[in-house]
Amino acid sequence: MRLINYFCENVTISNYNFVYMGYIKAKFHDKAEEVAVEIKDLLKNHGDKQIDEVHVSQVYQGMRGITGLVSETSLLDPTDGIRFRGYSIPELRDKLPKVPGGSEPLPEGLFYLMLIGELPSEEEVQHISNTWGRRSQIPRHVFNTIDKLPVETHPMTQFSIGIMAMQTESLFAKAYAKGISKSEYWDYVYEDSMNLIARLPRLAAYIYRRKYKGGQHIGPDPSLDWAGNFAHMLGYDDEGFLALMRLYMTIHADHEGGNVSAHTTHLVGSALSDPYLAFAAGMNGLAGPLHGLANQEVIRWIDQMREELGGGLPSKEEIEQYVRKTLAEGKVIPGYGHAVLRKTDPRFTAQMDFAKKHLPNDELVNIVWRVYEVVPGILKELGKVKNPWPNVDAHSGSLLVHYGLMEYEFYTVLFGVSRSLGVLASLCWDRALGFPIERPKSVTTQWIRKFINGELEAYDD
Ligand SMILES: CC(C)(COP(=O)(O)OP(=O)(O)OC[C@H]1O[C@@H](n2cnc3c(N)ncnc32)[C@H](O)[C@@H]1OP(=O)(O)O)[C@@H](O)C(=O)NCCC(=O)NCCS
Repeated sequence: MRLINYFCENVTISNYNFVYMGYIKAKFHDKAEEVAVEIKDLLKNHGDKQIDEVHVSQVYQGMRGITGLVSETSLLDPTDGIRFRGYSIPELRDKLPKVPGGSEPLPEGLFYLMLIGELPSEEEVQHISNTWGRRSQIPRHVFNTIDKLPVETHPMTQFSIGIMAMQTESLFAKAYAKGISKSEYWDYVYEDSMNLIARLPRLAAYIYRRKYKGGQHIGPDPSLDWAGNFAHMLGYDDEGFLALMRLYMTIHADHEGGNVSAHTTHLVGSALSDPYLAFAAGMNGLAGPLHGLANQEVIRWIDQMREELGGGLPSKEEIEQYVRKTLAEGKVIPGYGHAVLRKTDPRFTAQMDFAKKHLPNDELVNIVWRVYEVVPGILKELGKVKNPWPNVDAHSGSLLVHYGLMEYEFYTVLFGVSRSLGVLASLCWDRALGFPIERPKSVTTQWIRKFINGELEAYDD
């Protein structure tokens, strides 16, 4: 049964946007129905085909390399980097709609691509922008909850608490409590996801202005797009910064399904926890220093290097010494390495490209580039680092500093706002495809010992 009509008859101009979003939702529903049929066929005819082999080392090492999840929105190739529905970042920068005269893609377009699987038209992007603008109101109690926290609370903690406080708005939770059919889950999860994405920039900007700008808040500008309006509410109206936010929100949105924030959102959502609960859980994972917090670590690490070396642009030899000192102290070089990638992260390259165009003479940016010339060689020498190349976090902080956003602790919140696009589009797919609760098998070391000794057989179910 079709749940939504594409275009209702007797549509008036005043409710056109509503009906148009109905069209996007209906399009998603139709796509999901097609994929559900395909999956049914795959399972029926190929369900027994082996896709992977699991080694004892992988069981102990963070399940690295095990293919065990389906995430429709993007796919990460170890050498090619991330592709969103088949499109690389350079292709997206070229093909996705932009603001008139703009050079960077609108993240609304990437969301459409991840949700629907096709490139959007300018009109479709505009309608998503308008819809998110209309849905961006946040209930007062959310701000009151944030206001009760000590102002020094880490912005990621405030962000997570703010999302949890907004859970009162979950349409899925309310509908589930009343009793709905499984076939309707996707509809409420879609609505919650759209509302949550719409609200996040306002929540994040509130936290920023409260913590760093004496509580002087800035209202939204309805004429702006989602990322542009976010920049405006943070207090940055420079056109260059608006362009950076559009790029930043696009490139941080998704990195296939196994990374901590995406996997956590998927896992928690699989228990039918609503999108607010699932996304807040994902954000708590993003707040870890080996995941999303690495961007603040990178810039702190460079600051400490500059302080020790007395400022200015350090030479390659000086950087090398500092890198070796960091490693000798038993620390990682932040912004380098990746669990899946084995080449320079295209998200790093996109930011480098932006910087070459807009701020080629910035000293901090030039340090980032010089660090890039030095670090991979040293990490390769160690022999154990699987990927000596920079990831997305190695560059982002330097761009933000250039435009005056100096509050490093806030950088992961920007990442989190962007990440909502991928993980919530993916959550819509999870519910539309009726994915079950996730529950992998765990074993004990004693079990593994017995298995190796041939005293036990591998589990088969
Ligand atoms: C991203 C990261 C967590 C991936 O971890 P991983 O998949 O376990 O990486 P590897 O398999 O290459 O790790 C093998 C070894 O190399 C080390 N290594 C990996 N990246 C390193 C780096 N940037 N600096 C120093 N050592 C590093 C690991 O700590 C590990 O050492 P150990 O065996 O003594 O514990 C890791 O590269 C890292 O800590 N990077 C720095 C933090 C960062 O930039 N995070 C953002 C990721 S987008």
